[in-house]
Amino acid sequence: MSKKFYITTPIYYVNARPHIGHAYTTIACDTIARRQRMLGAGTFFLTGTDEHGQKIERAAQAAGKTPQQLTDEVSAEFRALWDRMGLTYDDYIRTTSDKHKRGVQELFRRIRDNGYIYKGRYTGQYCVFDELYVDAVGPGAPCPECGRPTETVEEENYFFKLSAFQDKLIKLYTEQPDFIRPETRRNEVMSFVRSGLRDLSISRSTFAWGIPVPDDPKHVIYVWLDALANYITALGFGSPDTTLYDKFWPADLHMIGKEIVRFHCVYWPAFLMAAGLPLPRGIMAHGWLLFEENKMSKSRGNIVRAETILDVLGADALRYFLLREIVFGQDGSFSFDALVQRYNADLANGLGNLASRTLTMITRYFRGEVPYPSHTASHTRAEDAIAETARKVIADCGTLFDEYQFSRALETAWGLVAAVDKYIVENEPWALGEKRDEASLSRLATVLYTSAEALRVVTALAHPVIPEATAKIWAQLGLGDIKKFALSDLKWGQLKLGGKLGRVEPVFPRADKFAIERMQKLEEQQQVPRATEAIPSAEPARATGATFAAEPASATPATKPSTVPADGKISIDDFAKIELRVGQVKVAEKVKGADKLLRLEVDLGTEVRQVVAGIAEAYAPETLIGRKVVIVANLAPRKLRGLESNGMIVAASAEGGKPVLCSFLEDVPVGTRLK
Ligand code: ME8
Ligand code: MG
Repeated sequence: MSKKFYITTPIYYVNARPHIGHAYTTIACDTIARRQRMLGAGTFFLTGTDEHGQKIERAAQAAGKTPQQLTDEVSAEFRALWDRMGLTYDDYIRTTSDKHKRGVQELFRRIRDNGYIYKGRYTGQYCVFDELYVDAVGPGAPCPECGRPTETVEEENYFFKLSAFQDKLIKLYTEQPDFIRPETRRNEVMSFVRSGLRDLSISRSTFAWGIPVPDDPKHVIYVWLDALANYITALGFGSPDTTLYDKFWPADLHMIGKEIVRFHCVYWPAFLMAAGLPLPRGIMAHGWLLFEENKMSKSRGNIVRAETILDVLGADALRYFLLREIVFGQDGSFSFDALVQRYNADLANGLGNLASRTLTMITRYFRGEVPYPSHTASHTRAEDAIAETARKVIADCGTLFDEYQFSRALETAWGLVAAVDKYIVENEPWALGEKRDEASLSRLATVLYTSAEALRVVTALAHPVIPEATAKIWAQLGLGDIKKFALSDLKWGQLKLGGKLGRVEPVFPRADKFAIERMQKLEEQQQVPRATEAIPSAEPARATGATFAAEPASATPATKPSTVPADGKISIDDFAKIELRVGQVKVAEKVKGADKLLRLEVDLGTEVRQVVAGIAEAYAPETLIGRKVVIVANLAPRKLRGLESNGMIVAASAEGGKPVLCSFLEDVPVGTRLK
């Protein structure tokens, strides 16, 4: 029987648009899937969207859509982006599909029939953002995972006997040390499970957007049980046709981000054990993509869209950067500067340049046919050294890719690019080509053959990471379709002598100095103010005595003199344009790398706003939680340190002193307008 490989991404929530954080996971999986296919494994690569639950239901409400409308729209958007990037998923699972719903109900039934589900009463806190039952105490208590205020849930639920699986889980992690990777995540999970597992509520009855519990449709199944089951329902579990399930389950790898480790490494194996189903072979949790030192996320408003990078540099550039720059498993920063620098150094000047000069010289001096290297007179130690390097790179790269150490695998492969570059410079093929004597031509043939063969090796190794460009180079080398190449056969010395090159064209044009600007502009164009926020024609001048704390102290608000009369007075209508409202601080935290800034989430009654305020030197974040503040609610959003600020907190600014927040002696309800 031939080998099989089943790999999955998390299914993404449809409350947010895709960004390069989602692309990161999906690209890593696509790379692994492509490599497995090149190695001859029957491969199944699954991705999709997570569409049920309270978070999605509320996002739909806020957008004035039905949950189904919102999920259809956003799910299609994710899929279109993956298609545009050429990602080779084999199926795209949606949790609102009938196939999935059927499978989830079947899983629920099996767990229930095996005696692991009972009815009880849950009273406690729930974090809608994480869709997680938390241990926090009291209404509004912050979620220990994300810091957002939790909600009190009190209802009759179905419970899953998670507590029955504590020992079995510990046994699993111990006997199968690579079940959870990397090691740090495994240790966290072990200590979480050792500290004791409580039974888990797995149904809700106070909202409707979910899959009904079999035989008790007043309840919908907990969204994480629903979501995790996608890994088997996509293969046909619970459906009449289980061919794929029989062939591919258990999964070889669930790839996830580190924030959803508990669901995948504790709940999921426990659900499967309870249902009597085989467990996945491994779970790999990678780190977070940071933008200006914060986790890139829609709720922080500091996202970068993949489309921007595709428009300017192409998909290979994004793939190469993410996998080369970030140590897989750890957090890593994204910046346009670093992206362009990597692109130019490794792709345009590195692989791209090696391909174009080698292939151009073969075209010019040997009419586009791979020249015969001499094994006698013109063969030197330098050729042996390149061959030796290539053999070692092939072996090391294989191991590193198998361990998902993408950055080191690519670094190793590019070691061969550097070695050949040096070899070319030292051997000056262009000078040999200008001399017409036989000895020079023989030597030239050896040098160009060696360079082309090294180019072939790097191209094959890099194909899973940069599929577009390597497919072109492969064709230019006259080797046809790279997808048909069996990677396990890769050896030094396989380039066909006398083989005809394809048409030679550059693959990685250099990024000029405007590339960064263009990408930044494309991102800024996405920062459109919301329709509900009228932009005031003039921002108030500082002379009013109030300072607007969203501004870092150094920035003076721009005034538009044309709208302010000469005596500096404004009409009541002008004042009425400024929407001042009472808000309550729900979340407050320091902004890394900015001494003066705090990131706040302020409840305005109708919505929770993120505001970045220059008050960190005057207020410790924890003292602000629950405090009522005055906020300029209709200010156009702006970005501070990469974070979107939606409004300003009003504070008094004493000469030379620290800002003092405006507040009331009497209690005023959240959302009240000041006029
Ligand atoms: O958690 N850096 O969905 P989600 C790295 N629906 N990876 C990131 C990232 C970042 N800044 N932002 C997102 C869910 N990701 C659930 C999953 S699975 C049965 C259900 C990636 O939309 C990363 O893979 O919040 C992370 O785990 C995933 O997107 C979370 O996507
Ligand atoms: Mg998330």
